Amino acid sequence: MAYHVNFLGNNMSRNLSLLSGKRDDKNSLFGKIVSSPTQNSDNKLAHEYNVGVSTIHSTKSFYDFLDEGFKSKKAYACTGSACLCRGTQDSVVDKLREKFGTGSVGEMVCLGRCYENSAFHYNGNNYSGDDIDKLDKIVSDKHTTSNTYTMKSYSDVSFIVEEEIFSSYDDFKELLLSCFSEDKANLITKLKDSGLRGRGGAGFPTGMKWEFCQTQEANTKYVVCNADEGDPGAFSDRYLLEHQTLKVLFGMVICGYLIGSKQGFVYIRGEYPESISKTNDALEKLRNLGLLGENILGTGFDFDMNVVMGQGAYICGEETALIASIEGRRAEVDVRPPFPTVEGLYKKPTVVNNVESLAAVAAIFKLGAEPFKNIGNGQSTGTKLISLDGHFNNPGLYEVDMSSKMDFIIDEVGGGFNDDIKAVQVGGPLGGIVPVDVLRSLTLDFESFDAGGFLLGHAGFVCIPSSFSAVEYAKHLFAFTAHESCGKCFPCRLGSTRGNEMLVAATDKGEKLSRELIEDLLQTMEAGSLCALGGGLPLPIKNLLEYCADEFKPIMEN
Ligand SMILES: Cc1cc2nc3c(=O)[nH]c(=O)nc-3n(C[C@H](O)[C@H](O)[C@H](O)COP(=O)(O)O)c2cc1C
Ligand code: SF4
Repeated sequence: MAYHVNFLGNNMSRNLSLLSGKRDDKNSLFGKIVSSPTQNSDNKLAHEYNVGVSTIHSTKSFYDFLDEGFKSKKAYACTGSACLCRGTQDSVVDKLREKFGTGSVGEMVCLGRCYENSAFHYNGNNYSGDDIDKLDKIVSDKHTTSNTYTMKSYSDVSFIVEEEIFSSYDDFKELLLSCFSEDKANLITKLKDSGLRGRGGAGFPTGMKWEFCQTQEANTKYVVCNADEGDPGAFSDRYLLEHQTLKVLFGMVICGYLIGSKQGFVYIRGEYPESISKTNDALEKLRNLGLLGENILGTGFDFDMNVVMGQGAYICGEETALIASIEGRRAEVDVRPPFPTVEGLYKKPTVVNNVESLAAVAAIFKLGAEPFKNIGNGQSTGTKLISLDGHFNNPGLYEVDMSSKMDFIIDEVGGGFNDDIKAVQVGGPLGGIVPVDVLRSLTLDFESFDAGGFLLGHAGFVCIPSSFSAVEYAKHLFAFTAHESCGKCFPCRLGSTRGNEMLVAATDKGEKLSRELIEDLLQTMEAGSLCALGGGLPLPIKNLLEYCADEFKPIMEN
């Protein structure tokens, strides 16, 4: 029976994917759902796409930004881990409430302003640092946020941050022409030779992914740029979309050319308004220059792409949920295999790549595979962007060689800490929480973090000061996961909520925390969750229980 129900469920979502793609595979049903304001327009949309209106409603109900309560707020305070640990948000919320009224302040996570904190969102724009003290001017439109932070490369060969290698539309055209003159197989081989591994977290080899998709027999294929950067503490994709837009878009065009795709999507989180406008501007310009659209540079190659704006759901960063989102389905994670390269968007072969992976492709095709491969430890190659939060003396966005010593990153790149830091969470809310002395012994690559029992992930660094309670941080992570769970599997859906409840009961009601129960819960989540949201949360919680055991002692059962 369970199989039967599952089978029916999978078939229904499969049908919806096919219907959605058949009707309009360029603008996405999702965009239309987002802008459908009334029951009447929902009915019309359902009719147009030949789906039940309940499908439209169930999609709408999935996203924070589409919730009426959320929409009714006037301003939103960032609740990301970096702002939380920096302790800036109580004051931000107080000031926003004073200005807009107590019930008018909502929450957003995370605005990618982790380098200076005090982040909030108002009227379609993000603000941070001392902006909060300029609310009157902001409201009267007389203040725009500076949005500046340090961006620097520490590599002898800068692939990403150095703008000189690839910054103009002429550079874009020149590199495109040079790639078009090469054999497609050679280009894929170059990518494989570079050793580039996906920068979105899992580290899958990019060249291999493109080759898998290229070899699929299908008339229609898609390229998707995953710009949903939901990890609190990371702002490297935001940096790329706003400062290196052409590198990212070049990666998509050349991917389309190599795999045989005509259509791409850049899925950008709604929390990044500047990234969305910069990307849209660049796409428009590329179209006007004939570098996107039909018959690009007279080669007979057609390729265009559109931006899809996320609506405040962390899980949309997971590739199958992201695909479901573009299709206008609830962004629930799908079982893999089949992987997207075989059956992705609208059930067609699809390459999904992270923003940084795509930017690195452009740099590799420009500078060659060899210099990229020569950096790193042979398994993790090239350079990597890292995001350092406001607890570093030099917060900002840096490009460093893979396998750089973490000592170097903390002391030289970051300039040391400006507070007493007990641990650093690396790689987002599912990344390990690493005590500073342990972190200092690692190198910045997939292997070293893996061997230490941690994750490099997207390489955002969130410092946890000694003054910040480890128990509160564990609550924050459980609450985050409970809120962001797609709800498809119960170990994650229930486990994250129960975990948070157990900690709240221990701190607020004096009920002791059972070690057996919490360990059982973590084991169930780890073993039974369908994706790395529920499956990944136990790692940082276990790290906290182990490395900050003293702080848990008072609430633990004897
Ligand atoms: C819960 C969850 C969230 C994720 N969020 C992101 C994200 O924000 N950006 C991203 O590129 N990959 C994210 N991923 C990884 C993607 O599923 C996928 O592996 C990645 O986009 C592939 O691109 P890459 O090979 O270039 O890394 C997430 C995975 C999980 C399980
Ligand atoms: S682990 Fe959580 S987010 Fe992932 S599929 Fe299960 S319920 Fe959804």
